Amino acid sequence: TVHEPPAAHVDNDQHPVGYGRMLRKEDPRFVRGRGRYTDDVQLPGMLHLAILRSPMAHARIVSIDTSAAEAHPGVKAVITGEALAAQGLAWMPTLSNDVQAVLATDKVRFQGQEVACVVAQDRYAARDALELIDVEYEMLPPVIDARHALDPDAPVIRDDLEGKTDNHCFDWETGDAAATEAVFASADVVVSEDVVYPRVHPAPMETCGCVADYDSVEGRLTLWSTTQAPHAHRTLYAIVAGLPEHKIRVISPDIGGGFGNKVPIYPGYVCAIVGSLLTGKPVKWMEDRSENLTSTGFARDYIMRGEIAATRDGKILAIRTNVLADHGAFNGTAAPVKFPAGFFGVFTGSYDLQAAYCKMTAVYTNKAPGGVAYACSFRITEAVYLVERLASRLADELQQDPATLRLDNFVRPDQFPYATPTGWVYDSGDYAATLREAMRIAGYDELRTEQAQRREHGELMGIGVSTFTEAVGAGPRKHMDILGLGMADGCDLRVHPTGKAVVRLSVQSQGQGHETTFAQIVGEELGISPDDIDVVHGDTDNTPFGLGTYGSRSTPVSGAAAALVARKVRDKARIIASAMLEVAPDDLEWVKGSFQVAGDPGKAVTIQQIAMRAHGAGDLPEGIEGSLDAQITYNPPNLTYPNGAYICVVDVDPGTAQVKVRRFVAVDDCGTRINPMIIEGQVHGGLTDGLGMALMEIIAFDPDGNCLGGSLMDYLIPTALETPDWETGFTVTPSPHHPIGAKGVGESATVGSPPAIVNAVIDALKPLGVTALDMPLTPSRVWEAMQGHATPP
Ligand code: CDP
Repeated sequence: TVHEPPAAHVDNDQHPVGYGRMLRKEDPRFVRGRGRYTDDVQLPGMLHLAILRSPMAHARIVSIDTSAAEAHPGVKAVITGEALAAQGLAWMPTLSNDVQAVLATDKVRFQGQEVACVVAQDRYAARDALELIDVEYEMLPPVIDARHALDPDAPVIRDDLEGKTDNHCFDWETGDAAATEAVFASADVVVSEDVVYPRVHPAPMETCGCVADYDSVEGRLTLWSTTQAPHAHRTLYAIVAGLPEHKIRVISPDIGGGFGNKVPIYPGYVCAIVGSLLTGKPVKWMEDRSENLTSTGFARDYIMRGEIAATRDGKILAIRTNVLADHGAFNGTAAPVKFPAGFFGVFTGSYDLQAAYCKMTAVYTNKAPGGVAYACSFRITEAVYLVERLASRLADELQQDPATLRLDNFVRPDQFPYATPTGWVYDSGDYAATLREAMRIAGYDELRTEQAQRREHGELMGIGVSTFTEAVGAGPRKHMDILGLGMADGCDLRVHPTGKAVVRLSVQSQGQGHETTFAQIVGEELGISPDDIDVVHGDTDNTPFGLGTYGSRSTPVSGAAAALVARKVRDKARIIASAMLEVAPDDLEWVKGSFQVAGDPGKAVTIQQIAMRAHGAGDLPEGIEGSLDAQITYNPPNLTYPNGAYICVVDVDPGTAQVKVRRFVAVDDCGTRINPMIIEGQVHGGLTDGLGMALMEIIAFDPDGNCLGGSLMDYLIPTALETPDWETGFTVTPSPHHPIGAKGVGESATVGSPPAIVNAVIDALKPLGVTALDMPLTPSRVWEAMQGHATPP
């Protein structure tokens, strides 16, 4: 259900050519089964790679016997860590300046770790041959609970790192400890809560994989790969494998969902490249579902203690938190280098605070590496969950309404740009307007009345509120880089003689509809129909360098680049038009799609006529080389800060403890809206993600380190059955520094929805004295809480 806001907030009616609801240009091929995914790539003579994975969480490798596998008639090569070590390829850098084993040489450090691989003539032979590899392991005690990772007698996981004597990964802090302590010391009220954001997995529909094709004659590697960041990956392959960068082409074709899972470089990609180098044939590697769930980038796994200080009448003064971050066996987080905890620093939320402080300790455990930004901008999901639990907990403590408490504490519109106590500069927003709009749609006051009535009858109805500020669009490059690569995006635009255009992006869609929205941006700027603009992405040979798509950065960074490159083309078009109309460039007015002589609308040339002229016979004005094109690299001056207000209504079955989300209202403000239909789709997807995390998703481990979430039978993701009718609304507060005022939106709903749902369930259980509950809110957990038992750790 879409709720149009009252007239106060204008949508995109003023943008007839470019912006507005438009069916997705890419959908005809998707709905007809004509998408071209990595697994669709078939090359002559192509071989298949399968990976042998560790059955144990922590064990020393005593020996590996590959002879029987090598004797398998279909097998072309068996590769072990030892063989890779001989080429200096047994270890590779992670995106967080750690190293990760490509194939284990000394030890295995998590269940599912890559131990050896087989290249064979087909997928079946490769899998069969894995069974023939004989690995002798010597079991070591595993470290599974992050709370015990730093115990003095904990086994050291990363003894590969020189001088490492414990499982400490990194320490990080932000804010002012002393100032925060001073505020806490004098506050009327301090409320604290232990909050766990469990390990979850992005679980994209398409698993990870690649096809590596090394041409030994040309010395050229072509890699079709499920990557969200083709250019960054290419540079890293050049550095890791020592191949010249200009001889590497990374093609990222259609991708069946990324959600952060396809940002890291996985050992399978490197193995496939080595397999192709060794055999001289193209080699395909595609994970199965269990491999994806057990070995690739997980998300969250933060154990947090939060404290909030306030006055007795509900003015929030400060927030303090201590976080234990479980990073698994290798630090595979993908975040800007200076931000080891991602953007967790925005844990101050949408509130105007006097002080804030966070101290974090990250540890290694015998679990899969990761810590990826699963549909959030680098740990903001964790940050928002913490602050929104604290805000609701405080409201309960003060016996205030949680929406009123938030309205009283928001950063006010006149405070923007607003510098938070942890150093982030929020660009714009009207948080109160957004929450009020959500309350209007939900009928908040009536809901509270209904709740009071139901409570009298013993019914467990809960209303949860969450509000959030996201920080999306990483750069700028002076603050942010991935392994030294500055976070800026290139964009090229060519308008062909007949006025049709091609725009080339450095970002890479994984289903977000870039082929449509980027055509809309350029169309809006040039007055060309988006149908006449093709978007090219996901091919390093054919697109400009840039850092890729994650953390909702495409619209804030590449969206800005697309608008600015179009304006550059328009500037060039103005000069050509001035020659065509024989007036000075300054005497021309741009009326979408054409230049007109000021005061004489009859004298005009269209962008199509200008394009033809730019390529046509005869001289062009001084300084114009011909053709109508431009390129740009956009370095964002700041992140953009979308915000939202979510209200969730749940009913908890008093008999079975089953949670039913009855209503969910999501009001998002992502600034200028390019395509409201796509935004709604993004929000629906994110809300569904959030529902899954709140109610059913967890990657858990038994005490031996066996992963208990290795299939979709165990790792539950929501289906249409569990998903309510999402009710969406919006407000529009443009970003002041973005050329079209747009902010990212792709991940907002994943960030904002879990706390709304958890707050609603806790609100429902309030009559039973429940004040805290950890995700996922499965019936058994909720039941335990209803019986007065704490959530199991
Ligand atoms: O980086 P990613 O594409 O995942 O996230 P995004 O920049 O938030 O964009 C997701 C989709 O929503 C893209 O197709 C955007 O162009 C579209 N969008 C929009 O139409 N208007 C906005 N203000 C923000 C995003």
